Amino acid sequence: MKKRTFCFLLLLASVTNVTARNDEVIALAEPQRTGGMPLFEALDNRQSLRSFSQEAISAQDLSNLLWAAFGINREDGRRTAPSARNWQHVDIYLIMKEGWFVYEPGDHALIRLGNEDLSEHAGSQAFVPTAPLNLVFVSDHERMTGISAEHKDFYSATDVGFISQNVYLFCASEGLATVVRGLIDRDKLHEVLQLRPSQQVVLGQTVGYPGE
Ligand SMILES: Cc1cc2nc3c(=O)[nH]c(=O)nc-3n(C[C@H](O)[C@H](O)[C@H](O)COP(=O)(O)O)c2cc1C
Repeated sequence: MKKRTFCFLLLLASVTNVTARNDEVIALAEPQRTGGMPLFEALDNRQSLRSFSQEAISAQDLSNLLWAAFGINREDGRRTAPSARNWQHVDIYLIMKEGWFVYEPGDHALIRLGNEDLSEHAGSQAFVPTAPLNLVFVSDHERMTGISAEHKDFYSATDVGFISQNVYLFCASEGLATVVRGLIDRDKLHEVLQLRPSQQVVLGQTVGYPGE
């Protein structure tokens, strides 16, 4: 077994807590909030790649990726991506071979929502289920108050865009492959991720180590 895979299995085994819903809370490694590639080099490397190794993402890369994407970077709970009126209405769901999860930024943890591999539902392109990780960006319209449905759709799209770009820049910096995807069956994902009516699937994003 490769070292990265072993590390990830160890991470999944380290269940640290149980929520009110009895979902497992899995502590992520401490994110490395310094270092990485200089910003301009990361911008120079940013690209969509669609060929992925099946190798599982290491525990440290997964932690850093989620923190870079939409982790908390200030004492007041604000995040690495901007959020309209600081509603923080976007959640990151993770579809992996080991199950499906949602990122909990407050504890920098994953909440396991199920053990099934939902990769076949993550997107319609052939490369999608071959990758070790598919992110699903979900906007909860209930958290956006006092605005029209049209504006909720608008802010869902804009705010997911910022998070997706953070993922792109992290992947560019660390040599991972990624592509954001609009070609998804939103109704199917809504069903299999057991989302509430107020939650809307916006985009998917595949992440992994580059393939051949
Ligand atoms: C909102 C959005 C949706 C996209 N949807 C898909 C998709 O479903 N499948 C895919 O392979 N690429 C998708 N892409 C990636 C684009 O095809 C890609 O960004 C574009 O070809 C430019 O390539 P680059 O990202 O390498 O600069 C999407 C990009 C954006 C911004």
